[in-house]
Amino acid sequence: MKFNHEIVEKNIGLLAIFTVIAISFGSLVEITPLIFQKDTTEPVEGLKPYTALQLEGRDIYVREGCYNCHSQMIRPLRAETERYGHYSVAGESVWDHPFQWGSKRTGPDLARVGGRYSDKWHEVHLIDPRAVVPQSNMPAFPWLAENKLDGKLTGDKMTILRNMHKGGYKGNDLYTDEEIAGAQKAVEGKTEMEALIAYLQSLGHALK
Ligand code: HEC
Repeated sequence: MKFNHEIVEKNIGLLAIFTVIAISFGSLVEITPLIFQKDTTEPVEGLKPYTALQLEGRDIYVREGCYNCHSQMIRPLRAETERYGHYSVAGESVWDHPFQWGSKRTGPDLARVGGRYSDKWHEVHLIDPRAVVPQSNMPAFPWLAENKLDGKLTGDKMTILRNMHKGGYKGNDLYTDEEIAGAQKAVEGKTEMEALIAYLQSLGHALK
């Protein structure tokens, strides 16, 4: 029996069904192994869980939409690794829900910005980017220095992360009960600026 291609090509219903099957098969082959591969789901050696303050800072990063202009993913290309350092790997983002890889770079990649500048530099820069980089078109975020954290939800956020990664940090949970109980105290009264800077300074050390 001769297989006739025309049957599929001229029947829109059949073509649609076969297309869906082909695409689903391709996706499953690519995605399924990744779900079970250790190096995409387990933290890289040296990746520490966010502290209470860093975790709050991360939420401010998301709230302010920093990801609209900053990626956190260094591609394995020479031009990138020479500028930013070691390329990013999945195991560096395992605590991030959602991850902040992004693709839009109006500003530089921030995956390894931790330790590149002093806390004071970040503070001045976030209040008025043009004070330190005259040609910058980054918006100013002066309210971060005034808004204070109350820490009411910090413990809950840590509990959720802990539950998502049971035993996921070197065989232990991400946080102890004491750390969660002390979370509010750890951040209460601190400014959003302090939290955001703590987060920025924590980025990218695991693979430097
Ligand atoms: C409209 C786009 C835009 C937004 C939104 C934005 N940035 Fe920027 N950012 C830039 C640009 C452009 C630069 C490069 C010039 C400069 O250093 O100011 C930059 C630079 C930076 C740098 C210095 C990076 C380096 O390696 O020199 C940091 C840190 C930074 N931004 C953090 C943030 C944070 C945190 C937020 C959110 C609160 C944010 N940015 C929001 C555009 C943006």
